[in-house]
Amino acid sequence: MSELVRHYIGGQWVESGETFESRNPATEELIAPIAKATVEQVDAAVQAAKAAYRGWRLTPAPRRGEVLYAVAQLLTERKEALSRLMTQEMGKVLSEARGDVQEAIDMAYYMGGEGRRMLGYTAPVEMPDKFGMALRDSVGVVGLVTPWNFPVAVPSWKMLPALVAGNAVVWKPSEETPAVAAAFVKVFEDAGLPPGVLNLVLGAGDVGGALVAHPDVRVISFTGSTDTGLKVYQKAASLGKKVCLEMGGKNAIIVMDDANLELASKAITWSAYGTTGQRCTATSRLIVHKDIKAQLVEALGDRARTLKVGYGLEDGVEVGPLVNAKALEKVERYVGIGRDEGAQILIGGGRPNTARGYFYSPTLFGGVTPTMRIAREEIFGPVLSMIEVDSLEQAIEVNNGVPFGLSSSIFTENVNAAFRAIRDLTTGIVYINHGTTGAEIQFPFGGTRGTGNGMREAGSTALDSFTEWKSVYVDYSGRLQRAQIDNREG
Ligand code: UN1
Repeated sequence: MSELVRHYIGGQWVESGETFESRNPATEELIAPIAKATVEQVDAAVQAAKAAYRGWRLTPAPRRGEVLYAVAQLLTERKEALSRLMTQEMGKVLSEARGDVQEAIDMAYYMGGEGRRMLGYTAPVEMPDKFGMALRDSVGVVGLVTPWNFPVAVPSWKMLPALVAGNAVVWKPSEETPAVAAAFVKVFEDAGLPPGVLNLVLGAGDVGGALVAHPDVRVISFTGSTDTGLKVYQKAASLGKKVCLEMGGKNAIIVMDDANLELASKAITWSAYGTTGQRCTATSRLIVHKDIKAQLVEALGDRARTLKVGYGLEDGVEVGPLVNAKALEKVERYVGIGRDEGAQILIGGGRPNTARGYFYSPTLFGGVTPTMRIAREEIFGPVLSMIEVDSLEQAIEVNNGVPFGLSSSIFTENVNAAFRAIRDLTTGIVYINHGTTGAEIQFPFGGTRGTGNGMREAGSTALDSFTEWKSVYVDYSGRLQRAQIDNREG
């Protein structure tokens, strides 16, 4: 593939003067040259969205939902092609890329159904001959800024609820995955979404910044790093916008002394090293009961050391590369920090022998204490920090004692311990006898503390980001009825 990847503005595929490159992180080969949006093009996309919004908001929601069903069908037909492109462009192994596209298919069916729900409510009113109801209303133009690690699933969590609710969208995907983004947008075009309702602008932070700062964009939904997310939040807040943020994680699996260790070691391997540790939900801390630590490390070592690292399109490869040189440098820097802090490398700790590509071997640190940087900061790579504890209470305290709160997990066969954990783990997602990755689209997705700002994606809760409540009172008495006054004595 080498054709220029273009923006999609007002139903047209357009270029700009400047371009940048998208490269395969496993082979370092060129995927395609990419148009780099100007500030004027961001504005043109917002204007196109504003114009299209007028008709889209009046399109009956069930009809909007049907467009989403068509998106789901086309995505299903193109699943293989999109997945392969995803593996080439950002590195995750093919089976995981298929899962990424599947998540968007699931979300398209789910949100298509919202076209016939989008439930508001009625409640009794104080006066006779009067009726009250609360409706979800669209907000207008919505700006989306999304990361490369789930280049189809995560944008789908935002654009599908935004669209079914009647909004128009301008999307700025990561500069690491523009080709996949354009192929995803083509699905909406071919599914019959009217021109201008979904617009795509390609580029880096300056393009996202222009979108966030645009006065006609009412809502910003962002997934990405904490640093960038907080800047987005400040800028958007200063302009009075609604913001939905999904940022960092430092997710832990707790393994208690009564756990099924075979199951736990499989789940840890998958959640820590799957997607090369580049999920918001990836396990990066292992909180282990001291009595089973040695056994667990052995079981984990057997699995992690035999994981096949390589190009994700090749058969049998289980762990792909990191997304780019910068991500690899970050992992190497943190492994150095861990060593300097006094933690010991028990598994991995270096790069495999490959001629090209940003690969790093699955790594486990032992002897980690909760205050070390490798136990508190997001590394976003295949690096797991193991912390030893001697009780459930201590495990929960360690889990909760970090600046992030996305997902957490406990392995135990004790139902009482499991329910205590459900009660006391302060993350947005809690798993019992399952790793920290694998959220399903029908439940709220998001985290506490530094992971977000209290909003949730997915499920019908996603509609909260992209709708405003409108309360409606209908007085059919034919006379003046004063609330809080005329139904009271005196
Ligand atoms: C992300 O890493 O941003 O729960 C999304 C999971 C996936 C989604 C991850 N369903 O791991």
